[in-house]
Amino acid sequence: MTIILDGKKTANNIIEKIKDYTFTLSKKPKLAVIMAGDNPASKIYVGNKQKKAEYAGFESIVINLPNNVTEEDILEHIYILNEDDEVNAILVQLPLPKGINSQKIIESIKPIKDVDGFTSYNFGKLALGYQPYAYPCTPKGIIRLLEEYQINTEGKHSVIIGRSNIVGKPISLMLQSKNSTVTMANSYTQNLKELANTADIIVSAVGKPHFLNSDFIKEGSIIIDVGINRTETGITGDFDFISTAQKASYITPVPGGIGPMTIAMLMENTLELYKYQRSIFY
Ligand code: GUN
Repeated sequence: MTIILDGKKTANNIIEKIKDYTFTLSKKPKLAVIMAGDNPASKIYVGNKQKKAEYAGFESIVINLPNNVTEEDILEHIYILNEDDEVNAILVQLPLPKGINSQKIIESIKPIKDVDGFTSYNFGKLALGYQPYAYPCTPKGIIRLLEEYQINTEGKHSVIIGRSNIVGKPISLMLQSKNSTVTMANSYTQNLKELANTADIIVSAVGKPHFLNSDFIKEGSIIIDVGINRTETGITGDFDFISTAQKASYITPVPGGIGPMTIAMLMENTLELYKYQRSIFY
């Protein structure tokens, strides 16, 4: 029998707990999001992040900047947010408009306010197996969902398809820390089907609808689909869900899988940064 990994329910439970805790605080955590350009998917994600932040009882601001914004403009906004003691967490929504150097922008965020864990300070800590101020939200959400369903990763072969800084790279490090044997694949990988068939766990972050199907998986494997692809028939992941679900032991749905977990982890990270900044971390 296949078990659907219910990210929506798990995320809602996490957010309810955060909400209850936030209610007890006289000063609320504050999340600031920089949204540059008019990428329609990014706008939806940012809207959802802001809604959840407000639901959790946080203060929240979104700074909308035009498509032709300059690097200097964004850096100036980050400088102000870095210096503002009221702001606990800064998120720059990616991708940034063409011509903007994302690396320079991300590196300008103070590590203790880097809610995505994308600065080299936090990512370096993660790579070394030390604790960063914040773990990247999507991989953290994947690990939390596996834990929620008591799925042990130790000794299991994880194949990760996609090597982005947002998902592929950090989840590979986090799964290695949990004693999984990790193989990285990407769009150049030869014999992807054969490789994926050796996986106990597959994490796909490709961004192509129906790129993968049941032929790519072995019976009883665990499928984590991070793809969010907008098609004419609605939102779908990288896997063809129906066929794959019949063969897998666990699978995340799209929507309702990793997406909501990412937002829940963003809320958790915001609260954790607030605690670090107020030195009430135990
Ligand atoms: N774009 C897609 N996913 C993410 C994310 O987790 N954080 C940021 N900042 N941008 C993204």
